[in-house]
Amino acid sequence: MLHIAEASPKAISLAARIIRTGGLVAFPTETVYGLGANATDGEAVARIFEAKGRPRFNPLIVHVANREDAEQLAIFNGDAKRLADAFWPGPLTLVLPRRADAQLSDLVSAGLPTVALRVPGHDVARQLIIAAGVPIAAPSANPSGRISPTTAFHVTTDLGDKVDMILNGGPCAQGLESTIVSFVKDEPVLLRAGAVTRSAIEDVLGRAFIIGYLHEKPQAPGMLESHYAPRAHLRLDVQTPEPHEAYLGFGVFRDGGGPYLNLSESGNLREAAANLFAYLRSLDIEAVGTIAVAPIPMDGLGEAINDRLRRAAVSRSTTRT
Ligand code: TXA
Ligand code: MG
Repeated sequence: MLHIAEASPKAISLAARIIRTGGLVAFPTETVYGLGANATDGEAVARIFEAKGRPRFNPLIVHVANREDAEQLAIFNGDAKRLADAFWPGPLTLVLPRRADAQLSDLVSAGLPTVALRVPGHDVARQLIIAAGVPIAAPSANPSGRISPTTAFHVTTDLGDKVDMILNGGPCAQGLESTIVSFVKDEPVLLRAGAVTRSAIEDVLGRAFIIGYLHEKPQAPGMLESHYAPRAHLRLDVQTPEPHEAYLGFGVFRDGGGPYLNLSESGNLREAAANLFAYLRSLDIEAVGTIAVAPIPMDGLGEAINDRLRRAAVSRSTTRT
């Protein structure tokens, strides 16, 4: 049942409980409304993609309460610290190398070794993060392909039946998504223009910086350099693997003896999405030449799972430099 509430302390603590127990809460930030879930819980994160109807697993922004909490999850260099101190809380997202021991689901960063972090500058958002006691993964709370919501009413009409609760904190002050700066390369790269201007960032950095590709544009499968690509070759839609192959199963399968992991024995697509990146990575570490993958149905989250598997299968055969 949908629960829409004014963002009172009581409503925020209920919302925090929903987040902690794996549910979805739409909440206001200073930029746009976010569709939040517990970033440490893979199945909760899978529900975000399900609710948005995203045909692909894009990495999500993880929202935290302050820089100290952010440093538990990612590695900051000096410039990243300077930007965080200048603009947090506020509409700036930093993409940083993810700590190996970060308590985050693999799905939240779509299997990448990086993570996007932001400390929102909206009281309701920060109170929610603090009350939940976990980092909150949140894309904009719109269905895939629609524009970002800047009022609780937009969320109600767009996603109303798909979220467990909507916190109403009034219209968003900025109405424009956060600016995204990546620190994954040696030099900072602007991945998305947004509420914090380029010149404001350059004033803090003390120099001009690079504009990256607009990563929201569709790209050819496997060509997106930020995509996780296994070293092993992927063979898709395989019912019965060859003896030399590792096998990534889905649903009922009798183990053939080789390296084998099952995305979901019960055939649950949410569970499969939550396991996808971690399992691909583990089978890849077994260093076999080929990972055979079971057929995954195309309904619901299956479309995004299949999209990611196809990209991973193509990227191996594409020349990478
Ligand atoms: O203002 C905002 O940033 C809002 C509020 C809710 O915080 N959120 C938002 O999220 O706009 P979303 O998912 O609609 O856009 C996030 C963008 C995506 O284009 C995604 O590709 C990029 O951030 N992104 C997330 N993690 C990334 C990573 N590790 N590397 C590169 N890009 C990343
Ligand atoms: Mg969006």
